[in-house]
Amino acid sequence: MSGEVDVAFGRPGAVPAETTGTLGAAASPDGHAAARPAALEVRGLTKRYRRGDRPALDGVWLDVEDGEILTLVGESGSGKTTFLRLVAGLERADAGEVVIRGRTVCDERTFTPPEHRGASLVFQDYALFPHLTVERNVGFGLRRLGRAERAERVREMLELVGLLGFERRYPHELSGGQQQRVALARALAPRPAVLLLDEPFSNLDRALKARLRQEVAALIRATGTTAVFVVHDPDDALAIGDRIAVLRDGRLVQLGKPREILDSPCGPYVAGFFGVGEVVGEVEF
Ligand SMILES: Nc1ncnc2c1ncn2[C@@H]1O[C@H](COP(=O)(O)OP(=O)(O)OP(=O)(O)O)[C@@H](O)[C@H]1O
Ligand SMILES: [Mg+2]
Repeated sequence: MSGEVDVAFGRPGAVPAETTGTLGAAASPDGHAAARPAALEVRGLTKRYRRGDRPALDGVWLDVEDGEILTLVGESGSGKTTFLRLVAGLERADAGEVVIRGRTVCDERTFTPPEHRGASLVFQDYALFPHLTVERNVGFGLRRLGRAERAERVREMLELVGLLGFERRYPHELSGGQQQRVALARALAPRPAVLLLDEPFSNLDRALKARLRQEVAALIRATGTTAVFVVHDPDDALAIGDRIAVLRDGRLVQLGKPREILDSPCGPYVAGFFGVGEVVGEVEF
């Protein structure tokens, strides 16, 4: 299942109460900066799977600007999937808030179900429905549209990912790369406010991976989609991300542009992950 959605944009123009300082401020034509909500705001998000366990996610704050691609990295078990699942609404947070396009979808009083969050999640294994054709997989989140409108949107998406002509195939009749593109088309079809991707390249061989990561990033950019992209490979993170968020033991230890991370990794963990030498002092957010 990928979170197929009703995108409810909520209070347009609302100014978030608190930000991490990364909120995009759109300049109006008369030169005044008009505050606009970030596509995604995460405030102090915390999750403990079992009482007494260390939190899998521990007080993470970050904003993702409209149209931005944020890559999320960190060693195995650092909380990347947990972060995506909390944002998508597949898990309940113990503390913190998630705001999507200015609308609170998770706080101590609110829990908006996944299908109403405006977030689409692409799983690592694509999770296509094996018994549905490509066409029906892509149209799955569009059931509320009329038949003609849905068919048109599916066609548009398949054209976008270069799979026109594959409508009647089943997932097992596709290559890994093609399945990946179907998963992406399915996730993009409902025009999500935020696209969440969990290591969608790890099943693929190196050459295909290198080509696809550029292709996928280009598709996300072409549609102006805001995305949080979990990746294992530091090269992927640097190639795809406008900014990179680094998790360690459930905490956000660095958030910055690729150049900033390479030039000033905030500690040996980040430096080691990206294979760079100089360390400028360990800071935790
Ligand atoms: N359903 C669960 N129940 C209990 N603990 C869990 C559950 N899911 C994850 N965890 C634990 O939470 C921590 C974070 O897991 P998570 O899956 O978010 O890591 P990750 O960064 O995605 O790792 P990987 O790179 O291996 O996919 C780990 O210690 C993990 O064992
Ligand atoms: Mg994971």
